[in-house]
Amino acid sequence: GRVLVLAGGLSVEREVSLSSGSRLHEALSRIGVDTELRDVDDATLTALAGDPPAVVIPVLHGTSGEDGTIREVLDLYGLPYVGAEPAACRSAFDKAAAKATVTASGISTPRAVTLPREAFHDLGAAQLIDRVVGRLGLPLVVKPRAGGSSFGVGRVEEAGQLAEALMACFGYHDWALIEQAVTGVEIAVGVVDTGSGPIALPAVEIEPVTGPYDYAARYTPGATTFITPARLPVAVLDAAAAAAVTAHQALGLRDLSRTDLIVDAAGVPQFLEVNVAPGMTDTSTWPMGLEAAGLEFGVVCRELAAAAQN
Ligand code: DAL
Ligand code: MG
Repeated sequence: GRVLVLAGGLSVEREVSLSSGSRLHEALSRIGVDTELRDVDDATLTALAGDPPAVVIPVLHGTSGEDGTIREVLDLYGLPYVGAEPAACRSAFDKAAAKATVTASGISTPRAVTLPREAFHDLGAAQLIDRVVGRLGLPLVVKPRAGGSSFGVGRVEEAGQLAEALMACFGYHDWALIEQAVTGVEIAVGVVDTGSGPIALPAVEIEPVTGPYDYAARYTPGATTFITPARLPVAVLDAAAAAAVTAHQALGLRDLSRTDLIVDAAGVPQFLEVNVAPGMTDTSTWPMGLEAAGLEFGVVCRELAAAAQN
């Protein structure tokens, strides 16, 4: 039957999702899969009801794509889909909740606090900033508690920069996650499960040519050097692979995910976050991991689509 790729939507990651979706659509078409790419809008539900696909691959990033919303709707329509179920998406997309869950499974993650916008605005920013810096020290990374593609993420070297970083963050989410900045090797570890259990793909090392791995570094060809497998000792690569699979399982994810980690100076992989709808653009690391494992992107996604229908 027909495989429907849902992409686009209205999150700030809309453009990224459209590139992920078209790459997936192309890869499936090339191997003869009957597939359709749909940019999600208010005609989508009518289309789903009128001419239901055999299976959906949601490639919506960010809010409503990764927080479970679209999958709640697919469940309501009785349509099988590739990827995690809504409840698992919700806890994975909330970076603070995800950190708590993986910590309970023995994975290291940078110390962090969360701060709601209301507290920041209504209770006195200066005192809260003192308290946060007193608790975590410096430098820090401020992120929207839920979000993707580095939107609203800022690095804070001194206390005086924290207020501005928080304001930028609150432009994207009501809650900030303020995390100790870890110095080390940034890696992404994809996970895929086509039916015989989750396996970790080779770790992709992420080295921006200059500055942080921000939106431009992610999606401008040549702005980041990706090295697969990451240049790390085998024991560290094994630990990172185990952490990605453990995160996938502990969060109750299904089919695919990508865990982002920083390997600290002691060689310990520190969990940053997990993505339930990992990017599939030309500069995205999940497809790079597949390729490094000798797996073909389109073929793996066809297998995931087939498995989701059983
Ligand atoms: N949020 C983007 C799509 C990613 O993590 O790949
Ligand atoms: Mg992400």
